[in-house]
Amino acid sequence: MAKDKYDVVVIGGGPAGYVAAIRAAQLGLDAACIDRWRDGEGQARLGGTCLNVGCIPSKALLESSELYEHTGKHLNSHGVLVGKLELDLAAMMARKDKLVGQLTQGIQGLFKANKVDWLQGSGQLHPDKQVKFTTHDGKESMIAAENVILAAGSVPIELGFAPFDGDYIVDSTGALEFDKVPKRLGVIGAGVIGLELGSVWRRLGSEVVMLEAQDRFLTFCDDQVANESRKMFSKQGLDIRLSARVTEAKVDKRKRSVAVTYEDEQGKHTEHFDKLIVCVGRRPASDDLIAGNVELATEERGLIHVNDHCETTLAGVYAIGDVVRGPMLAHKGSEEGVMVAERIAGMNVSLNYDVIPNVIYTLPEIAWVGASEQDLKAKGIPYAMGVFPFVASGRAKAMDDTSGFVKILAHAETDRILGAHIISPRASELIAECVIAMEFGASSEDLGRTVFAHPTLSEAVHEAALATLGHPLHIP
Ligand code: FAD
Ligand code: NAI
Repeated sequence: MAKDKYDVVVIGGGPAGYVAAIRAAQLGLDAACIDRWRDGEGQARLGGTCLNVGCIPSKALLESSELYEHTGKHLNSHGVLVGKLELDLAAMMARKDKLVGQLTQGIQGLFKANKVDWLQGSGQLHPDKQVKFTTHDGKESMIAAENVILAAGSVPIELGFAPFDGDYIVDSTGALEFDKVPKRLGVIGAGVIGLELGSVWRRLGSEVVMLEAQDRFLTFCDDQVANESRKMFSKQGLDIRLSARVTEAKVDKRKRSVAVTYEDEQGKHTEHFDKLIVCVGRRPASDDLIAGNVELATEERGLIHVNDHCETTLAGVYAIGDVVRGPMLAHKGSEEGVMVAERIAGMNVSLNYDVIPNVIYTLPEIAWVGASEQDLKAKGIPYAMGVFPFVASGRAKAMDDTSGFVKILAHAETDRILGAHIISPRASELIAECVIAMEFGASSEDLGRTVFAHPTLSEAVHEAALATLGHPLHIP
């Protein structure tokens, strides 16, 4: 039951919004979180994109498919012999769904414990910080809020010539729910979702063709990492085609396939797929979030304009997460939620946008923080660089996976670390060391003089820092 008035009303219960609501309540503010997410059975669910159809289910399938491939290909070399390898896709999907259910219910429990009111339905910002709340069965009420936090998240971008039909042409959500392994899987967009979900289905047996419009792979990564990873993914069997301008996607229900036409330097091509995933980016879900008579500045594609403290152009109205500038990442949204809640409670805090880690959860994983080498070159910043390859790591050898490297970039004069780029198994965990170092303004010498446990993958970070200083110990 909604009250008439709250200190804080959050619209959106994804990782940005639910965290903001919890933190506000922890600080003694009366907080409500309006969220309209419902699962296939019509059950209301907290957690937004991330928990329901994003970070969590994709990582569940990445983990399961990695185990499947690893068991089939690599266990023999360890002397571990297993019987015939079989895939129970339904069980794999059920495990993923169970995990999602547990985590979304966990947030419900956190709301209860922190006394956050969960209002199930839609929210819309009206003038004077009034929020219109519409329940799922259409009952409307107005709530007065001292502070409003807009956290409506994002939705997949649809291509006009390839509309999602939920069957043959799907977005990432559809690609997390195939009931059988597609024989041929087309992917438009070789970005983060394309690589993660393309990897899942390739490991489970699909022939995966990825059509990418750009002439370079992973333009948002350090060039050396992008080039190395492209070689690795191609070797694994992901067929990545760059400079591919897709012009048509035609579903043939009789043949149960979709024909995709694209052009590149060699001319026009048509490929037939059982399923097609379109993952060409996401856009803010701000369409019906703000009433027409509210004067709030927005930017291109519906992003809500905010300053570094996530304040919109209206006093007492904030926006966080995927609806605002910056990377569309769960942890970025959550930290914005914490910052805004704490500022509302009178704390003078801010967020360091220069040190936000990014991860692509393929195998090997790709993780980075801060500037890439090409960024530094473009800005004319003098730098020193150290690279340590995992072939020289004892732990990586014991794990039977020596792919990738750690690359550290430090300012040539001050030695302050400016960027770190890792491609390796568990790079998602290793990058945290670099994030902490950078947050504390560390130099590569600081990392080089820190004691790391042996034998660990982390030692590669230590060695890359030593290489930046010009004296690595374990590379010639
Ligand atoms: P969302 O999570 O989108 O939540 C917004 C919520 O607001 C939703 O529940 C929505 O229903 C609700 N809502 C919207 N409008 C209204 C309204 N008017 N009234 C009421 N409710 C409303 N990020 C990572 O950091 N790591 C990952 O590994 C990762 N993997 C991903 C995998 C996939 C397949 C996808 C699609 C995304 C992934 N992301 C990942 C991105 C991550 O999911 C988003 O950055 C994150 O969910 C954004 O959080 P948010 O709270 O801003 O929005
Ligand atoms: P993305 O921005 O990562 O990649 C989209 C790709 O599609 C780009 O390479 C782009 O050049 C290409 N593209 C755009 N239009 C195209 C067209 N018409 N034809 C062919 N290619 C085209 O976006 P993606 O993969 O959809 O993911 C959306 C967002 O979700 C990510 O930016 C990220 O913020 C978030 N995400 C994060 C994950 C993580 O942190 N591990 C995992 C999955 C998603």
